[in-house]
Amino acid sequence: MAIPSFDKHINKQALILAIESSCDDTSAAVLRGDVMLSNVMAGQQIHAEYGGVVPELASRAHQSNIVPVVQGALKKAKVESKDLNAIAVTMGPGLMGSLLVGASFAKSMSQSLGIPLISVNHMKAHIMAHFIQKEAEFKKVPEFPFLCLTVSGGHTQLVLLESPFELKVIGQTIDDAAGEAFDKAAKLLGLPYPGGPLVDKYAKEGNRNKFEFPIPKIQGLDYSFSGLKTSLMYFIQKNERNNERFKEENLRDVCASYQDTIVRFLLQKLKRAAKETGVKHIALAGGVSANSQLRNDIVALGKKEGLEVYIPEFQFCTDNAAMIAMEGQLSLNNQDYAKLSDAPKARFQGM
Ligand code: KG4
Ligand code: ZN
Repeated sequence: MAIPSFDKHINKQALILAIESSCDDTSAAVLRGDVMLSNVMAGQQIHAEYGGVVPELASRAHQSNIVPVVQGALKKAKVESKDLNAIAVTMGPGLMGSLLVGASFAKSMSQSLGIPLISVNHMKAHIMAHFIQKEAEFKKVPEFPFLCLTVSGGHTQLVLLESPFELKVIGQTIDDAAGEAFDKAAKLLGLPYPGGPLVDKYAKEGNRNKFEFPIPKIQGLDYSFSGLKTSLMYFIQKNERNNERFKEENLRDVCASYQDTIVRFLLQKLKRAAKETGVKHIALAGGVSANSQLRNDIVALGKKEGLEVYIPEFQFCTDNAAMIAMEGQLSLNNQDYAKLSDAPKARFQGM
């Protein structure tokens, strides 16, 4: 089944190879139109022992991963490089050294094959992941206009999409990202990096009403998470004065209560954005959209408020090249090509 409103923006026959290397995952994917033929990933375990991503180690790991990952994506898709119509690559935001590895590789590949190079904004691609289809399996995609809550390790944004090309950031964090709030809390609780998935795991076995953390009071549709993390730090210190095993004994309840505060805060502003804009379709994107409470609670919010909810599949929540390929298809169809002189950018303003 086709969705005319989105299909008109892409060429269903175009074969695109995409490369993603903005942080600590090297990924390559092939899409024919909006259909995913492969999405290959190589993670980097090395950062866990340092409690966070070490940029220099990340670039080196990308260098050794990129050739096998790209070859793997082509092989899995049963596509030869000579059949490709374009190469898409993440040009930012992200870690400069990591971005450079992907961008340089993509540039040389597009040059040697004589096909267009397409520059992709990673944050926009997280949202476009909603439009990826799989062979022999049709998925319902968001209708425009829709609101997307994009929550990752580096960003927290409320985005209003009027069309695939008209995106407006209507709210964002003024300090830490939601993913950072999870990862920093995990570190305070003695859990390894990235801690978000572990907080989620322990929270499932805990009581979210056991402890109370203040929901940050921030104007309009913006967010702030740094105060929340600090309140957790003081909370742990205070309780450890009376019981040095407090963290171990209360891990599950602390995770559940802290996660509940983040999720309620995230959805409070999303609900407000839907009210203010009158938009009836809401979506989640980015690594934190893998969080089980956030996924459950947004569905409940949709039911209560009469909103249509779209949640990405797990494989498209965290960083992946299939989402880069999807966004690349939109630019390819518009003949919006990158120049060889275009350089990656660590930060992007707007969308
Ligand atoms: O989008 P992403 O893969 O990378 C960035 O672009 O930043 O997001 C990674 C973030 C990390 O902070 C990680 O802890 C968080 O997503 N994350 C989660 C979960 N899975 C990943 N946070 C909470 N619950 C999860 N299940
Ligand atoms: Zn990301």
